[in-house]
Amino acid sequence: MGDPNAERTFIMIKPDGVQRGLVGKIIKRFETKGFKLVAMKFLWPSEELLKNHYADLSGKAFFPGLIKYMASGPVVPMVWEGLDAVKTGRFILGATDPKNSNPGTIRGDLCIQVGRNIIHGSDAVESANKEIALWFSEKEVVPWTKDIDSWVY
Ligand code: TYD
Repeated sequence: MGDPNAERTFIMIKPDGVQRGLVGKIIKRFETKGFKLVAMKFLWPSEELLKNHYADLSGKAFFPGLIKYMASGPVVPMVWEGLDAVKTGRFILGATDPKNSNPGTIRGDLCIQVGRNIIHGSDAVESANKEIALWFSEKEVVPWTKDIDSWVY
């Protein structure tokens, strides 16, 4: 077991989150909660990458529509680090279906439909590790230390 404060989760703003101009707002929620951003990029994902990302759901009726939606525009994949980042990240997101998401959560406040739920978050540490390795190279994940006292005035 590593440092529990260094747990990492994979969070991705989906194409509708980008289209609706919610990138800054979503990042702010993770930053103000206190998690640490250790990786982020902006890309238009291929269907191949998305099929790999959602491989567990390939048998579902909604799978083709899910891939089409996810491939419809650029996304913002990120890695956030901190104590219980996976579980707390899921709480910050809200339930998969926005109609079951509490107000105060990202999905509860900002979207309506399960097929357009603006953000992805890993559901377990194991899937987080898999997703991070799928979307980022080792070099693209950048560890750093919060060091406010010594240089920010
Ligand atoms: P899933 O992994 O079950 O949920 P989560 O994203 O909360 O981990 O499903 C992946 C995505 O598939 C989900 O975010 C939205 C989409 N989806 C549908 O379009 N219809 C559905 O009925 C479900 C369950 C998911």
